[in-house]
Amino acid sequence: MLNRSKFIFHVLTIGLCLSASPGLAQQAPAQVSKAERTHSKTQDPWWKHAVIYEIYPRSFQDSNGDGVGDINGITSRLDYLRDLGINAIWISPMYPSPLVDFGYDISDYTAIDPLYGTLGDFDRMVSEAKKRNIRVIMDYVPNHTSDQHPWFAESRSSRTNPKRDWYIWRDGKGPGQPPNNWQSWFGHSAWKFDPTTNQNYYHHFYTEQPDLNWRNPQVRKAMYDSMRFWLDRDVAGFRIDAVSRLFEDPDLHDDPILPGKNAYGDPNIAHNYTDNLPEVHEVLREMRKVVNEYPGNPVLISEADEPNIAELTKMYGGKDDEVQLPMDFQIADVNKRSAPEFRRLLNEIDKNAAGGQPHYFFSNHDQVRQWDRYGDGVHNDQIAKLMAALLLTTRATPLMYYGEEIGMRTTDPVRKEDVQDPIGKIGWPEEKGRDGERTPMQWDASKNAGFSTAQRPWLPVPPSSAEYNVKAESNDPDSILSFYKRLIALRQSEPALRDGVYLPLNGEDPYVLAYLRKKPNNADAILVVLNMSAELRTVKFNLAAEGVRESSAKPLIAAPEMGRESTQLTHFTIPAFGVFIGSVH
Ligand code: GLC
Repeated sequence: MLNRSKFIFHVLTIGLCLSASPGLAQQAPAQVSKAERTHSKTQDPWWKHAVIYEIYPRSFQDSNGDGVGDINGITSRLDYLRDLGINAIWISPMYPSPLVDFGYDISDYTAIDPLYGTLGDFDRMVSEAKKRNIRVIMDYVPNHTSDQHPWFAESRSSRTNPKRDWYIWRDGKGPGQPPNNWQSWFGHSAWKFDPTTNQNYYHHFYTEQPDLNWRNPQVRKAMYDSMRFWLDRDVAGFRIDAVSRLFEDPDLHDDPILPGKNAYGDPNIAHNYTDNLPEVHEVLREMRKVVNEYPGNPVLISEADEPNIAELTKMYGGKDDEVQLPMDFQIADVNKRSAPEFRRLLNEIDKNAAGGQPHYFFSNHDQVRQWDRYGDGVHNDQIAKLMAALLLTTRATPLMYYGEEIGMRTTDPVRKEDVQDPIGKIGWPEEKGRDGERTPMQWDASKNAGFSTAQRPWLPVPPSSAEYNVKAESNDPDSILSFYKRLIALRQSEPALRDGVYLPLNGEDPYVLAYLRKKPNNADAILVVLNMSAELRTVKFNLAAEGVRESSAKPLIAAPEMGRESTQLTHFTIPAFGVFIGSVH
């Protein structure tokens, strides 16, 4: 079965078969001292301590009743995000677009699609967000434009057009044949024949998304200017889409064929000649220079499923001169509650040779939501809290996806005719597309879960919204939402959780993932114990080597069975899927 959690970089080509206790109590988090705040202000850029939240704008809040979310809708929900403890929002594309790929096919990089509002609405959102100490990060899609972009209209018009070389045009191998065997991530050949000039253009994604030619200096200049356009409007940085796809082998070598077929019926291939070419890093360095022209430490976040720690490390650049926060797809794609696997990956990235800040997430607009992916079908709410604790207690900058904080689940369409995402149409029924993880935000139990007053929102509101919604969960101290709020507050108020080092514990334990967060030269530490298994476990901790003298840990956030009393470190019992976050000295 295809696994959409690995959608963007693995599943479509390889098609590999991949394989609690109800409530949690907490005592009041300690306050951040003035000295601590001053230290962080002078030493660390904001994004190191931020909790970042992805908004899929079509699905967050509709303000004008057309069934699609919009900018004014987001603005109206900023208080909610502030109260949750969010410091920055990354908003998926809102640029003018024919919406073939729901905004990832852009026809103008320096405007807002009227569907979402106006530039005035955008500016108001940014300034309202700023009042609440929330920064706005734009999605930036450099690999391809829409085929409706005026640049492409010019490029396709004749072989001698000045913009011809802005895209990748090649002759076929013979009549009716593509130039080589390269495949689109969205199925079938990556080449589209265009009869106007009898040549093929290259598209890594849909045919309506022609790839820009990043070897052309004019393309680079135009794209960097579009970054400046948004930086001038006070955005705090960019999430760079599909960045490892920017370059293709100029000699057009065929990609190696692998055994088996993908969801679209194409032979599997290794994308050796269209992925991660070294020139990607040259462009990232240039992009970093662009953001560095602006004050306030604007951030670059990269979407790139790096296959190993060496490739992920390269994203930071040799001299901290590329991306500050490369999204860690290895962590996102563990896809099982495996303490050893998480431990291995956490340890690896913690020691990355670039000294870069790790950046973790579990869900986004391309991934099956974590509630289903890690849930066992019975204890999913408890497991949602377990995964939240993992996301929010390591030293990585955490990235959340709207709705994960209320336990939103993936709700796939049941009939092909209801599918919106084209890959679901192409790959049905094996690949149902990404609609399931893009359903409207569940605000309350009213019509359309408070998302929209429209008769029919663009995607149906899942039935689970009756129980899983912001309003109901705000009133329930044991809800997933209340748990997230407590965790985020604790992360921001406990110095050791904010910027302590990460010290892995009990490296051989097959079930319980445990680590210490501790500030050097400071006796205070936070012990995090996460039982990834379905059984109660008893473990031992010896923290003397870490400079901790205490023999017990005092719970700050812990499974209720553990009580409020300190727990002995030599006989530490943690319930199935249990979370313990406590202080030790
Ligand atoms: C990225 C986006 C995905 C989009 C693709 C093509 O992977 O996250 O949603 O379909 O790029 O732009």
